[in-house]
Amino acid sequence: MTKCIACIGAGYVGGPTMAMIAMKCPQYNVHVVDVNEARIAAWQTDDLPIYEPGLLDVVKAARGRNLFFSSEIDAAIREAEVVFVSVNTPTKSFGDGAGRAADLQFWEKVARQIVRVATSPKIVVEKSTLPVKTAQTMETILNAAGSRIRFEVISNPEFLAEGTAIQDLLIPDRVLIGSRETPEGIQARQAIVDIYANWVPAEKIVTSNIWSAELSKLVANAFLAQRISSINSISALCEKTEASVLEVARAVGMDSRIGPRFLSASVGFGGSCFRKDILNLVYICESYGLHEVARYWEGVLAMNEYQENRFVRAMIRYMFNTIVDKRIALFGFAFKAETSDTRQSPAIFVARKLLEERAQVVITDPKALENARRDLADATGSAQFTDDPYEAARGAHAIAVMTEWQLYRSLDWERIYASMEKPAFVFDGRNVLNHRELFGIGFNVFPIGSPPLKHF
Ligand code: NAD
Ligand code: UGA
Repeated sequence: MTKCIACIGAGYVGGPTMAMIAMKCPQYNVHVVDVNEARIAAWQTDDLPIYEPGLLDVVKAARGRNLFFSSEIDAAIREAEVVFVSVNTPTKSFGDGAGRAADLQFWEKVARQIVRVATSPKIVVEKSTLPVKTAQTMETILNAAGSRIRFEVISNPEFLAEGTAIQDLLIPDRVLIGSRETPEGIQARQAIVDIYANWVPAEKIVTSNIWSAELSKLVANAFLAQRISSINSISALCEKTEASVLEVARAVGMDSRIGPRFLSASVGFGGSCFRKDILNLVYICESYGLHEVARYWEGVLAMNEYQENRFVRAMIRYMFNTIVDKRIALFGFAFKAETSDTRQSPAIFVARKLLEERAQVVITDPKALENARRDLADATGSAQFTDDPYEAARGAHAIAVMTEWQLYRSLDWERIYASMEKPAFVFDGRNVLNHRELFGIGFNVFPIGSPPLKHF
């Protein structure tokens, strides 16, 4: 009989992850379900609810064959032997722990729904990122009714990054699967190993105890964010000392103990997870009385906020301390290239600050304009939106690069310069442009982490 997998939550993680499992494991039927009917409807078309390079091909390879999207959550749970839960776990916005703790209401609702409708044993897989020890709560809820049905909880955190999700799923650095170290727990863990073993080499599938798996996910994100904050802190020092952060990052990253990745200085990191997961880590440490550990990780977030603020303050200062009525074009709004996602994008912070200073802000982005409009709906002043960077730049005093879209490198910068107010400024928040060339054209160029190139 064909085995059934259900996934509750058809978002950035649930959709791509399950599409990959379905494509690689034709012997399983995979049902992806969500309360958001519009999202489910979009997964059934070629206009997917999220933009991710290569995703449509993977979805198309399995959709209708063994990959199904629907809102029939109860039915999907009932039929499945394995239920992945990939619902959102945002930072709590109310009550105790507001602004720090993870809001686990969606996870708990799903757990209760599983208990209510299940008629056979299930392996319940934590795919969402959760505080360490959540599995204990889940086991308590799932096995509280005293029914004969047995639930095993497994932690299988997801490490994909947006924009490269398909590559990350196809060739993961590792797949982590944690369980209780009881015979039942190890048996359930093996069932999840067997799914990934269809395409992931055995040495890349790592098993551990369940608490290590839960915690490793938070720690991996904290370490990644920490590297960015480290290089961003150094970018400020480079700007004072005529060192170049690009050269420093290259020299430091060539040390094989350090490695070259995640050393790109920027206007700050964004995305739905780094901030929330570090806040969560800090909250967990506090709750165990580990105040020094909490302060240490809080520093990573403080540095990110400093970097965002520093960027806007420099823009205002270099533009003669006033930007009132000045047209400023933001090139990019997504939190990184190759995604339409704008969650926690530094561009949101920068746009809001510029609007508060009464600048005329024009936003351009190849994929994220719809989200940008929503993010700025309640902002002071009014932003304009266009998908044409030339149109955005026309009549502008300044361009600020917020997202490292490759297309910005190959624009006709002579044409852009000719259409702008003078002196024309470029603030490159991602160090993606050719700064010397722009300076040669006539721009005043302000990179991150190296001295400005200015004509005055
Ligand atoms: P998302 O908001 O895109 O998707 C979550 C989905 O869950 C939503 O569509 C929502 O409608 C649905 N949902 C919520 N409650 C539900 C319920 N009771 N029943 C059915 N559906 C329900 O979130 P995401 O970005 O996919 O993240 C999901 C989890 O994965 C989070 O814990 C996140 O930290 C983690 N994660 C995210 C990424 C990423 O790149 N976005 C990467 C790794 C891990
Ligand atoms: C990150 C992690 O990389 C994933 O492993 C993890 O699964 C995911 O979070 C998650 O848990 O949600 P993601 O946020 O999609 O993935 O993207 P990243 O590539 O990590 O970039 C995050 C932010 O850091 C972006 O704003 C990016 O522009 C910025 N960044 C990244 C830098 O500023 N400098 C760098 O060197 C690298």
